[in-house]
Amino acid sequence: MQYGYFDDDAREYVITHPDTPYPWINYLGSEDFYGLFSNTSGGYCFYRDARLLRLIRYRYNNVPTDSGGRYFYIRDGGDIWTPSWMPMKSALDRYECRHGMGYSRISSARNGLAFSQTSFVPLKDNCEIHKIVLANESKADKDLDVFSFIEFCLWNANDDMTNFQRNFSIGEVEVEAGGARIYHKTEYRERRNHYALWAVNVPVAGFDTDRQTFLGLYNGFDHPETVFAGKANNSVASGWAPIGSHHIKAHLAPGESKALVFVLGYSENPDDQKWASPGVINKTPANALLEKYGSPEAADKALAALKDYWDLLLGRFSVEAEDKRMARMAGVWNQYQCMVTFNMSRSASYFESGIGRGMGFRDSNQDLLGFVHLVPERARARILDIAATQFPDGSAYHQYQPLTKRGNNEVGSGFNDDPLWLICGVAAYIKETGDFGILDVKVPFDNKEELADSLFVHLKRSFDYTVTHTGPHGLPLIGRADWNDCLNLNCFSKTPGESFQTTANFESGVAESVLIAAIFVFNGPDYIEICRRTGREEEAAYAAKAVASMTETIKTHGWDGNWFLRAYDAYGHKIGSHECEDGQIYIESNGFAVMAEIGLDDGRALKALDSVKDRLDTKYGIVLQQPAYKEYHLELGEVSSYPPGYKENAGIFCHNNPWVTIAETKLGRGTRAFETYTKICPAYREDDSDLRRLEPYVYAQMVAGKDAPRFGEAKNSWLTGTAAWTFVSISQYILGVRPVFDGLLIDPCIPSSMKGFSVIRHFQNAVYRIAVDNSAGVEKGVKSVTLDGKPLSGTVLPALSDGRTHEVNVVMG
Ligand code: BGC
Ligand code: NOJ
Repeated sequence: MQYGYFDDDAREYVITHPDTPYPWINYLGSEDFYGLFSNTSGGYCFYRDARLLRLIRYRYNNVPTDSGGRYFYIRDGGDIWTPSWMPMKSALDRYECRHGMGYSRISSARNGLAFSQTSFVPLKDNCEIHKIVLANESKADKDLDVFSFIEFCLWNANDDMTNFQRNFSIGEVEVEAGGARIYHKTEYRERRNHYALWAVNVPVAGFDTDRQTFLGLYNGFDHPETVFAGKANNSVASGWAPIGSHHIKAHLAPGESKALVFVLGYSENPDDQKWASPGVINKTPANALLEKYGSPEAADKALAALKDYWDLLLGRFSVEAEDKRMARMAGVWNQYQCMVTFNMSRSASYFESGIGRGMGFRDSNQDLLGFVHLVPERARARILDIAATQFPDGSAYHQYQPLTKRGNNEVGSGFNDDPLWLICGVAAYIKETGDFGILDVKVPFDNKEELADSLFVHLKRSFDYTVTHTGPHGLPLIGRADWNDCLNLNCFSKTPGESFQTTANFESGVAESVLIAAIFVFNGPDYIEICRRTGREEEAAYAAKAVASMTETIKTHGWDGNWFLRAYDAYGHKIGSHECEDGQIYIESNGFAVMAEIGLDDGRALKALDSVKDRLDTKYGIVLQQPAYKEYHLELGEVSSYPPGYKENAGIFCHNNPWVTIAETKLGRGTRAFETYTKICPAYREDDSDLRRLEPYVYAQMVAGKDAPRFGEAKNSWLTGTAAWTFVSISQYILGVRPVFDGLLIDPCIPSSMKGFSVIRHFQNAVYRIAVDNSAGVEKGVKSVTLDGKPLSGTVLPALSDGRTHEVNVVMG
């Protein structure tokens, strides 16, 4: 069934049933302060780092699910309920949750009282705003008691959930304005210079800051003793679990409404200005924030500014087409998700706990691909941060920490695909912006200034790393793993709990990856072009030779007869071959090799994609390999650890489905390309939500494959490279509006049944309104292009950079 619908004009997904098959969430925040917000107001927020600076407590994998959030309890006479449905699971006369671009609004009603909660993080300020409106729709006066509730996290989310012997004694708060302003200051007395605040803009009847006093020791969030008693206790937390709760009394005549503004924020002070007086925190920054958002009008204005910001961003690429599901995904939700993945990397979602992972070298470079057209300056800064964690030999820290921007020693390096993604990210950035100047920026190696060299040198080291690290067949050595983190060919792990990714106990110097070879060949032409366009002819010639030779190596040693091999293991045995018992054919090397145009000339590409279709395709997308591994293989690692059909063991790992989509466009098979696009696209499965379970407006990392009992069920929504790659596949290869070094290439590859579409694309300070006419009913091929009414020779729109809007008419045929 469907649990909601898309409101395309408002760019909102409207959830109409609170009991979605899994919490359906949204992200609030644009730059430093972020909140995760579910359709029942669950979730948490943090300043810059979800692990180290978390403001409110959230219990992952708890019972009931989605425990913790920003809750409001209403006491309407004797009737007590929670308008966001959770945590009381209150019966509601009305309910909807609208997830929009950076904001969410829950509206509900019960017994003639209407409630709405608009939640967002304003641009440039470090806080969540929750604007509450209560409206009396009944014919009688109402005397209401409203209780707010949040539970503070003691900042470090990992320590908060483990170190109870200390934590139960350190919690501290301050309360001002009669309880309207609650400040959480745990550890502020020592090494922290930041505190949190939870405040409301009206006088309160009372407050609570001690969890046990508010809830009762043996009660859940669904039965707070204080709310049932109808009166706050004015408790001041000392250790244990500090919370923030306001008690507000409101009288509403029939037809009357009242708005309240709650602020959940983060403030910090310079070290020498921490205290207002001994033991009392300096609240100047917090109070300035509260003054700023002290009225409903101020909150509305901030929300309007946020909407303007998103109008501007999404105006950079929009689509009109008969297929509404494609148009809304490509024009709105896919780009929105790309922004979120760019901001979060893989840190905080309802599947990533926010304590585990830093920014990934390969992930962040790929995330850039879907983001760079939105805010190129931020992409530029990100590239420089990532590159600074590269080692002088071209290898890279696999991850770095967003706060320190330093490489993560716990994970280290040795994932041999990593370096090549830097070339991929930088090439995308230059094609989008024309900013070749970035290549001259001096960037440290290993975060050491004394090792700094130009970004171009970083790219060269990336390129050379692959050239110089090859194995017995001349293919790149895989190291700990390549894109597939679970092909751990040098890790023979027998110890439970040991990390497959960081244990390398069988340094074979033999295991090779066909995928890395294909990634190399894919990025080769961009690297060569970058060399040429910056006058490095000799380097270009050297690189062209290396790429040609790698292409030959793939054809000789990376071809299985009907598809591309995947790898060679530490014994030199084939992986992804018809000779194998399980794992005979893999998606990644086939998608990427054809993306890299290997075998377009000799029929291999066609054969490979036909094999993918025959052996890996399902109604929900293409599985990662077949047959699934039935047992654990010491020599393969984590890939064979998953039960068949899940994750990297024959799950539909959505991230690499668009590689096949793009590959299909290289063959000109528009109908098939579009089919692979729609199968994993969530909007096409909206009415199948009971099976898919996750949000119909965002991609998930994985959908269970055909070998799994729960075939078709999605997991791990939001933070996945699927977002960037599907956006690349639909915008650049299906709709075919693709930045290239000379401008914007127009090269659609669509189903013959698609009669046309239009795209508005901002590109290098000009706007192109592109109308594509496919009344000829072809799948690929452009007969003519006119630019502002004049015929264009070729299909590349020049970067006019004149701040003007240009009309482009494309006729396919
Ligand atoms: C997952 C991968 C992930 C890796 C690193 C593995 O358990 O299956 O998808 O990339 O962990 O976090
Ligand atoms: C998720 C990881 O974040 C990504 O880096 C990796 O490529 C995929 N899993 C596949 O293993």
